[in-house]
Amino acid sequence: MRLQVAVLDFGSQYTQLIARKVREQRVFAAIEPYYVNAKALAAQEVGAVILSGGPASIYADDAPRADPAVFDLGVPVLGICYGLQYITATLGGEVARAAAREYGPATLNVKSSKPLFEGVPKKFEVWMSHGDRVDVPPAGFRALAASDNSAYAAVGDDDRRIYGLQFHPEVTHTEYGSSILANFLFKVAGLEASWTPASFVAEKVGELRERVGGEHVVLALSGGVDSSVLATLLHRAVGDRVHAIFVDTGLMREAEVDEVERVFEGELRVPLTVVPAAELFLNKLKGVTDPEEKRRIIGHTFIDVFGAEAEKVGGVKFLAQGTLYPDRIESRSVKGPSDIIKTHHNVGGLPEEVPFELIEPLAELFKDEVRAVGRELGLPEKIVGRHPFPGPGLAVRCVGEVTPEKLAMLRRADAILREEITRAGVYDEIAQAIAVLLPVKTVGVMGDERTYEHVCALRCVTTADFMTADWYRMCHKLMAEISSRITNEVAGVNRVVYDITSKPPATVEWE
Ligand code: XMP
Repeated sequence: MRLQVAVLDFGSQYTQLIARKVREQRVFAAIEPYYVNAKALAAQEVGAVILSGGPASIYADDAPRADPAVFDLGVPVLGICYGLQYITATLGGEVARAAAREYGPATLNVKSSKPLFEGVPKKFEVWMSHGDRVDVPPAGFRALAASDNSAYAAVGDDDRRIYGLQFHPEVTHTEYGSSILANFLFKVAGLEASWTPASFVAEKVGELRERVGGEHVVLALSGGVDSSVLATLLHRAVGDRVHAIFVDTGLMREAEVDEVERVFEGELRVPLTVVPAAELFLNKLKGVTDPEEKRRIIGHTFIDVFGAEAEKVGGVKFLAQGTLYPDRIESRSVKGPSDIIKTHHNVGGLPEEVPFELIEPLAELFKDEVRAVGRELGLPEKIVGRHPFPGPGLAVRCVGEVTPEKLAMLRRADAILREEITRAGVYDEIAQAIAVLLPVKTVGVMGDERTYEHVCALRCVTTADFMTADWYRMCHKLMAEISSRITNEVAGVNRVVYDITSKPPATVEWE
């Protein structure tokens, strides 16, 4: 895939957002560490470079510095915040050390519309978040815009096509941010808006055909968005040489196994092997209450079952995994300073020594892009639009020991929760809706009888990336309906509570 724009990461919390905003313009951008060699960018025929913001002061001893040869690549460069200060300091201008950070909205006064501010008003609100600022721009640069705080809130050298912005065009608080980025991408860099889900599918199918050749591929299908898109994409590329394996751990939701089977075998005609392993999993989980221990057992058992099944297929060279771009940024391949590390014991994550070559066709995509690709591949909305579901399944929502009885209650409560939020039309407003069964019993009354039964907690969250989350402000009428249905329909539950904790300090799942 040709890298149209390289975003060099100086550690800003907004680096991913820059890449996403560029991609929204249908231009393919990827994040590279700030120290990437300019030759490596040239080898990828990069069409433009964006230097991100970052928390450092350009005067700090350990201030991150990019390869100065990026300015000699002959492609346009846009520096944002720290990126602008880096440009200024490197090309001979002066950066003033600021006594205090400027953080928040500011009014931008445009002095020259060409080329970045074409089609936007002369005056508008932008979002600032910086310490140092430009005092004297490098030779050849002119001021394009000013703010109260800075005469050089935007600068540019039209001959060398190097530009810098003190503010953040990638955040929504900056008005016309997308227009400014679009002007840079299309008017300055002359890039084409050619990166679409359809172009991604066409390109990937070609790549996969070439890489896989006549060999066979196995993958673990979970029924979630990522593995479903992966299976469908691979099937389009190599047909029946892809073997999708669905391990029924017994920790799935109500009707999930049948549903996945129906969609893949029936609708999509992607062959699927369902391995019934509920008994095995439940036996291994017997008596186990520690959350990490539960995860470990499930992870290992999964690997054993999946591995044995993959071996049965025979002659398999490749294992496909649904790794996404944020996973990559957070782990190995793209290591920049803006890493936020979160490891998941992803069921399906295999040990390092696997007898297969790994292929990760979705590794360049963000979650919403995976969904767009899924739609392009014809996956039904009920799979593409699904909330995420953790690998260890309902086990991490069954606080304490996992038993078939508790799983049955949880399954029903979870189904009711999903039915009701769907009926109320708020499924897509909620990032994840979870029912949790607590290992405590409380007293209730049903008819004239005292009851002593389980508590079911509901947790609905909103979030952009699951690293942080807020609890969903559910309307009371809907809460009442869900509560009433659960206590009426789920034998063994006599109390429903709603979780009103954000993440942090809580996590999304209860275990
Ligand atoms: P937490 O509980 O860590 O959850 O705040 C954040 C998101 O990750 C999902 N999650 C997992 N997904 N394997 C997965 O595939 C796991 O072990 C796992 N643990 C949590 C969780 O459902 C939420 O979407």
